[in-house]
Amino acid sequence: MLLGVNIDHIATLRNARGGVEPDIMTAVRICKSCEVASITTHLREDRRHIKDADVEAIRMLPRVRLNLEMAMTDEMLNIALKLKPHAVCIVPEKRQELTTEGGLDVIGQLDRAKLFAQTLGEKGIEVSFFIDPDIHQISAVSKTSAPFIELHTGKYANTFGTDEEAQSFELLKGAAIFAQNFGIKVNAGHGLNYNNVSRMHEIPDLVELNIGHSIIARAVFVGLEQAVKEMKILCERKKV
Ligand code: PXP
Repeated sequence: MLLGVNIDHIATLRNARGGVEPDIMTAVRICKSCEVASITTHLREDRRHIKDADVEAIRMLPRVRLNLEMAMTDEMLNIALKLKPHAVCIVPEKRQELTTEGGLDVIGQLDRAKLFAQTLGEKGIEVSFFIDPDIHQISAVSKTSAPFIELHTGKYANTFGTDEEAQSFELLKGAAIFAQNFGIKVNAGHGLNYNNVSRMHEIPDLVELNIGHSIIARAVFVGLEQAVKEMKILCERKKV
């Protein structure tokens, strides 16, 4: 499995003092030197971490694949069409949430989802919808032209090591297979860490894992390069 590193929380730390440190572009270069598959950033409506100038600067870097997470709004569509990131992951967004809570309701806004998938796809941008492991949501995505979904692994992560783990894991695995039967490629992310990530290898043909918080948290103690390398090894299923 490929690793996409979500660097939002480097920006969270930077913005805490309103200055320029830690520098986002240094983080991107370190991730690049570790040969991660993507740099993932969520440009939120309130710009609480990543800012427009950050995504623009990342996009300018050669040989860096930018995966832009964004809400399904007109503002974000215009930004994505201008920026032309390699990939866009469409996520739900609520102002008050601490992080992305739950997947996008594609069923409830299918026409809009179709429009976004088509408009972005026509520009050569790889579109995915960030959804819960729910077969009804997957069926809705199959009616759009999006080639990818990203499965929300939050419930699996929260129940990891408890009696409910087996159930949430089976839900994820079943959802991935269900999507693949439609020809949809499957990424996954949210709440994955150095302990719970290994079970992702039990899900067939997952393409990419997008992981942020646990990597940045570990980087505080061991440095970003080491933290990324360790996670990359776990994604590639080599022993650390
Ligand atoms: N994938 C998506 C679509 C997300 O919104 C997030 C959180 O921003 C992640 C992956 C990464 O989650 P975490 O920071 O918990 O690893």
